[in-house]
Amino acid sequence: MRLISTKSAKPGTILAQTIYNDNGQVLIQKGVLLTERLLNRLSNQGITYLYIDDELTSDIQVQSAISEKLRKEATDAIKGAFFEIKEKGAYDRSYLLEKKGNQLSSVIERIINEILDRDEALSMLADIFITDDYIFQHSLNVTIYSLAIGTEMHLSRKELSEIGLGAMLHDIGKIFLDQEILQKPNKLSDDEYEIVKSHAQLGYDFLRKNNNIPSVVAHCAYQHHERIDGSGYPRGLTGNDIHKYAKLIGIADVFDAVTSNRVYRDAMLPHEGLEILYAGAVNLFEKEMVVAFKKGVAVYPKGLTVELSDRRKGIVVRQNKSLCDRPVIRIISEDNKALTKPYECDLSKVVNVMITSCHID
Ligand SMILES: [Fe+2]
Repeated sequence: MRLISTKSAKPGTILAQTIYNDNGQVLIQKGVLLTERLLNRLSNQGITYLYIDDELTSDIQVQSAISEKLRKEATDAIKGAFFEIKEKGAYDRSYLLEKKGNQLSSVIERIINEILDRDEALSMLADIFITDDYIFQHSLNVTIYSLAIGTEMHLSRKELSEIGLGAMLHDIGKIFLDQEILQKPNKLSDDEYEIVKSHAQLGYDFLRKNNNIPSVVAHCAYQHHERIDGSGYPRGLTGNDIHKYAKLIGIADVFDAVTSNRVYRDAMLPHEGLEILYAGAVNLFEKEMVVAFKKGVAVYPKGLTVELSDRRKGIVVRQNKSLCDRPVIRIISEDNKALTKPYECDLSKVVNVMITSCHID
């Protein structure tokens, strides 16, 4: 399979990767023949790219970040927790959080197991969604990315469990806000932005009241928008005053925000998202964590078309575990001339050749 842009997909091509809705339910099953109507619908829903099957790439398989079953259960657990907590009065809320916190924790343990069992770098592009309510998929994605960073940093199982819960609940304060502001497609006014920013404090105030939630988890909600140089919010904390978990979740949060499909802007590709993290490494983000992110997450996911510094063009076939930014490429053209016999080039073995650009044709 390979990744192409939705607008260049022709009716009659075969969808190679299932598309989900926000409930984690299958919306369009892989193997379906894409019609003009389906393609228009995908474009209108903000899906900018998708995986298709073609002869040249039929042997390239992309592994989802977590299994379909677990994704559905995790999304249900997050949605159930957020909705029910929102519906209840203050007293019932904290009782509910205790119950829901246990459910979320058991899902998190399974996510950790699946991430630890992986044999290739994580590729979230493999999971494409149409989201009505971005917050649930975002909470799950941030959890997966945070755990990927944590495992690369060889954190203990206990630390991973706490980070997982902190990541899942990092934006819970948003359920107390006016949803219209959160889903507004155009630029927010200064006042509206201040309201959105209050979710960090609201989340903290809510979580810290519950004795069963570790206080560090409440601090993840409080501090995930803080940045090392003090430019973050709500308190403008600096350096080591920001908890390690919150720094890690902040990185996962920014990456998911810029690489997700949203109706009002195109998603960035993973290597562009990583550039944003590197631009902020040291001043905004902990360098060590950005490096761990790069190791654990596929910067050039399988199926992506890339151009090399020697004017060759190809498709990413495999990842190199220790060198995520130098994958194996199936060369399909040289000097703009299509090859009749594609061949493979392992970028970990030819150090003088670089990836210069990525395309989704
Ligand atoms: Fe947030």
